[in-house]
Amino acid sequence: TQDFRIGVAGLGTVGAAVVGMIARRAEALAAATGRRIAVTAVSSRDRNRDRGLDLSGIAWFDDPTALARSAEVDCVVELIGGAEGPAKATVEAAIAAGKAVVTANKALLAHHGGALAQAAEARGVALAYEASAAGGIPVIKALREGLPGNEVSRVYGILNGTCNYILTRMEREGLTFEACLKDAQALGYAEADPTFDVEGFDTAHKLAILTSLAFGTAIDAEGVAVEGISGVQPLDLTMAEELGYRIKLLGVAQRAEGGIEQRVHPTMVPKSSAIAQVMGVTNAVTIDADAVGELTLIGPGAGGQATASAVVADIADLAAGILRPTLGRPAAALAPAARVEMARHEGGYYVR
Ligand code: NDP
Ligand code: HSE
Repeated sequence: TQDFRIGVAGLGTVGAAVVGMIARRAEALAAATGRRIAVTAVSSRDRNRDRGLDLSGIAWFDDPTALARSAEVDCVVELIGGAEGPAKATVEAAIAAGKAVVTANKALLAHHGGALAQAAEARGVALAYEASAAGGIPVIKALREGLPGNEVSRVYGILNGTCNYILTRMEREGLTFEACLKDAQALGYAEADPTFDVEGFDTAHKLAILTSLAFGTAIDAEGVAVEGISGVQPLDLTMAEELGYRIKLLGVAQRAEGGIEQRVHPTMVPKSSAIAQVMGVTNAVTIDADAVGELTLIGPGAGGQATASAVVADIADLAAGILRPTLGRPAAALAPAARVEMARHEGGYYVR
């Protein structure tokens, strides 16, 4: 059998971890998929930066869209980030060239996932994105492949590692918001522009993807009502604590009259609840479905290794020839999202 040849576009926190993991796990991956998985091309901006990787024998592309078109690549792994610009151009070029695509880019999928899925399906190639929601937790697989016998009524949880890390350290160590954010950035958890994390947009992007899979509707990121944690003060955490609560940034999608309600906001959760025990960079996703009841997945929500774990899972599926409809069903057949308008109320959102 021929090697499955991988081109990795973006060698930052996640990209470097993916290249390292493919090398480290080469034998196990070959045994699991029946093929050798080989990184044949990489792209990043700075050729001279030491990334702690042995890149000898691997082609370097300054232009990630050229990597996407390279005849030496079967599968393009986009780890650049951002909803527009080089990430989008790379994924589009890869699909047009008939290559399988793996991405961790929830911003791209939240805004262009429907169109990209349609393009991939029209071209007969896979678009895989396990790492786009909840880091190392295999929640895309759970929703898309694990529950076809169920009707899902609600998906909710902690979907941003940076925010949960900040809230945890503010609460436990009395540190400032700014100090905690700085550490989250240094640890590789935060987005290139951390506004996406702390203002709730990253959670909204992930929620929009999960909503589509859970309810069979088109991705509707604009339909998410969003409030982040930048306004949460140490005093809010102390007051919540005294009342027997913790503050968590939750993303919630649920069936409501007339459609699907999607919202992201800081939420007081009872200290005794399971979700209140989720600390640090950990994420948790609860799925309410009629047959299984309540299902909760808990695990690392960000970081190079955890995210690479999800990216490599997609690569292994593709190497093994597993091709699923991108969004669980043919993208052209997705019902338009019936958006439930949310209104801001003192202390949260409510259905209008
Ligand atoms: P980084 O900022 O660490 O890495 C981005 C990489 O993209 C860098 O290597 C950068 O190059 C490269 N890059 C930027 N612009 C270009 C360009 N024009 N051409 C070629 N390469 C370019 O980001 P992360 O690794 O943290 O994130 C990557 C993706 O994964 C994002 O979509 C993010 O949302 C997602 N993600 C991240 C997680 C995490 O924990 N970090 C978790 C889950 C998803 P250079 O290094 O040379 O500057
Ligand atoms: N910035 C994101 C987070 C990365 O902190 O959750 C994982 O998607």
